[in-house]
Amino acid sequence: MNRRAKIVITDFASEPLDCERRILGDLADVVALNARHESELAGRIEDADAVMMYHCLTIGPDTIRSLERCRLIVRCGVGFDNVDHATARQCGIPVANVPDYGTEDVADTALGMALSLARGAHFLNSRLRRSCGPWSYQQVQPLMRLRGRTLGIIGIGRVGTAVALRAKAFGMNVAFYDPYVPDGYEKSLGVRRAGTLADLLREAQIVTVHCPLTPETRHVMNRETIAEMPRGAFLINTARGGVVDVLAVLDALAGGQLGGAGIDVLETEPPSDDHPLIRAWRDPDHPAHDRLILNPHAAFYSEEGLMDMRIKGSENCRRALLGQALRNVINDTHVATAGRAAALAS
Ligand code: NAI
Repeated sequence: MNRRAKIVITDFASEPLDCERRILGDLADVVALNARHESELAGRIEDADAVMMYHCLTIGPDTIRSLERCRLIVRCGVGFDNVDHATARQCGIPVANVPDYGTEDVADTALGMALSLARGAHFLNSRLRRSCGPWSYQQVQPLMRLRGRTLGIIGIGRVGTAVALRAKAFGMNVAFYDPYVPDGYEKSLGVRRAGTLADLLREAQIVTVHCPLTPETRHVMNRETIAEMPRGAFLINTARGGVVDVLAVLDALAGGQLGGAGIDVLETEPPSDDHPLIRAWRDPDHPAHDRLILNPHAAFYSEEGLMDMRIKGSENCRRALLGQALRNVINDTHVATAGRAAALAS
């Protein structure tokens, strides 16, 4: 008798699993474990044919080695540091992510923050709510028109490209710095490429960061690089907390080098109440109070994006069950998978 396949969802998504069953129901049973910790998986995951996981737990080497017939682990999200993909590779189990579920949402947030700062909307709203200054546009003078201003993008991947297209619609002069995209990208998008980061920063009234956090990009925006921006420019970070030195941002806001900053991501989330950035942002006497927009790592979020995670994760599991080519594999299991398939067949 043919055994029916089993898809295990380790965390976050729970009943009703309509969307997963619509995609997988003819092939497999779908089971949600609602686990908060890896230790809750033992005895419930070993016979999974594919695993879908979110961000509430970490899957380490012991769990991965316990998987008897798993053909795919999908991390339903972008970051995959909470799954031991190296061990999975050794075991011949592909690990895939869902890299694009929130692309538009992150881009919209970055542009939303940039517009709110550059048009003075955040500043005026913050000041007037506490009866500070006259009920007049004069509080934000001088304010420059957006059309023709330069928006500089660090990292022109999925999100950076979406930001570029949006900024072009506002008539902005869009430039990017990204040493890893081949020549010609700028032509396809109709934007300019800066040869160096310094070239980009020198001319950009708004800088928005969309590169991953790597040893190379850690604190890529720091005291020195912020000082290269035009005085009064705006800095947006919706990438990862570690790419921007927020203490340098704080000093730049206090000294006027930055006219405003929009920060969605911090190195430690949530931050402690006595973090200097948080204290300054809450202090009406600090310039950051009116010039800093802080969000709780929310740029990724939309109801549609959450649904995209579930749908795209399920679709990849379906490909795995049917032996079709997988999408977005991040641990390159070509060689190892062949070994696994042979082992499963034997
Ligand atoms: P992606 O991988 O499509 O693009 C990243 C780009 O950065 C690539 O073009 C790459 O060449 C470039 N890059 C790498 N190193 C660089 C460097 N040293 N200088 C300049 N460019 C560099 O990634 P995607 O999907 O566009 O996401 C961008 C980042 O946004 C992610 O790494 C992630 O950290 C962050 N993110 C934040 C979310 C949030 O909720 N705030 C949600 C999703 C992603």
